[in-house]
Amino acid sequence: MSLDLKTDCATMDQRAQDILRGNDRGGFTVPTNGLYPYQFNWDSVFAAWGFARIDLVRAWEEIEKLFDGQWPNGMVPHIVFRQYDPDYFPGPDVWGCTHAPVITSGISQPPVAASCVTRLYAMDPELGQAKVAVLMPKLLRWHRWFIEWRQSGGAICVHHPWESGRDNAADWDGAMAAITPGDVGNYTRRDTAHVNPAMRPTDEDYDRFLYLVQRARRLGWDEVRLAEDAPFRVADPGMTFVLLRANRDLEQLAGIVGHPTEEIAGWTRMLEKGAAGLWNADLGAYDSRDVLTGAFSNALGSTSYLCWYAGLTDDRMVPALERTLRDVRYPMPSLDPGDGRFDSLRYWRGPTWAPVNALVGLGLQECGPPGTGEQLRKKTAQMIASHGFAEYFDPRDGTSAGGGTFTWTAAVWLAWASPSAREVA
Ligand code: DGY
Repeated sequence: MSLDLKTDCATMDQRAQDILRGNDRGGFTVPTNGLYPYQFNWDSVFAAWGFARIDLVRAWEEIEKLFDGQWPNGMVPHIVFRQYDPDYFPGPDVWGCTHAPVITSGISQPPVAASCVTRLYAMDPELGQAKVAVLMPKLLRWHRWFIEWRQSGGAICVHHPWESGRDNAADWDGAMAAITPGDVGNYTRRDTAHVNPAMRPTDEDYDRFLYLVQRARRLGWDEVRLAEDAPFRVADPGMTFVLLRANRDLEQLAGIVGHPTEEIAGWTRMLEKGAAGLWNADLGAYDSRDVLTGAFSNALGSTSYLCWYAGLTDDRMVPALERTLRDVRYPMPSLDPGDGRFDSLRYWRGPTWAPVNALVGLGLQECGPPGTGEQLRKKTAQMIASHGFAEYFDPRDGTSAGGGTFTWTAAVWLAWASPSAREVA
């Protein structure tokens, strides 16, 4: 089905706004009711970007509330648990983290916040000036935590697949296979009560997810102890590109509030070098690399295309980009359809995700091959308009998958994909 985006735009915009308001829990937004009943880090930042189209003050509040969960060491956790909800596993009782004024998880997530803050500031510098002044030291401490605890050879590593935001991506297959989880005890997954299990990570994945959480809890979430004999440490182009971009934006924010920029500029150079080391010549793409074995994952996923977003105009990625935009009906698939592990509906093993499309698209619009960013934006808009505000989509035909009435899909619609977003961009 092809919709007339211009005619239907107002209806879609309204539905997207209703979803944001419906998932608002009082200054912070849940990704969707039931499946994810807490504030999740990068979901929340996308929510702020969407709210900025309708209520800029509310957008700032979303970011401010996320930083309520910041740890003394600078880490901004991937989940802020403000209340207990038995519908989600693993909840606060499993994480056992009491490092911040609110209860949180113990790992982070892609640091998109500084980039969003830059956008919010640009929309109203007068309002933004005081907000940036408060957030700047917090963002700085978070970026410094990444450099201190998650950096290897200039690239950013994840210590848990959940930290990447791409829980069951093929990027982690080798490192996950090397883990023997042993007895993690009895537990009941709640995600598969909300969503078709064929669209979610497997039980084998969950045993390992849990094993990593239990180990970290046993070690008191102490980064020094966690780094010793770490069982999972994978350098990821997705995280590296996102932090590289966020760091460039942070440098701009530092200029706005008169903060010194040398340290931030040094991180940018370090991350550029790290990104270069993630080029897999055999794959012809940026690729994740197991730091413990040195092996590449040989997985071409959507986040490999974030190089332009990171400010790297890399022509070597152009052939894969053009092939994907040409051959995949709804790009960008989270795993290349030509990969034997591709699974069109299973979470990060194939489906297309609107928030990644938005970041890839912004990068392409800024410095990619002419026309490609707009092409991706239009295909994303058509996908959402035709198949709804789902968590993710089958790249072959757009079938909606995962949770429904999803915050970040609605937010991406409002902020980037909608034809009306072009009028304010
Ligand atoms: C989930 O529960 O599926 C989340 O992605 C974990 O971060």
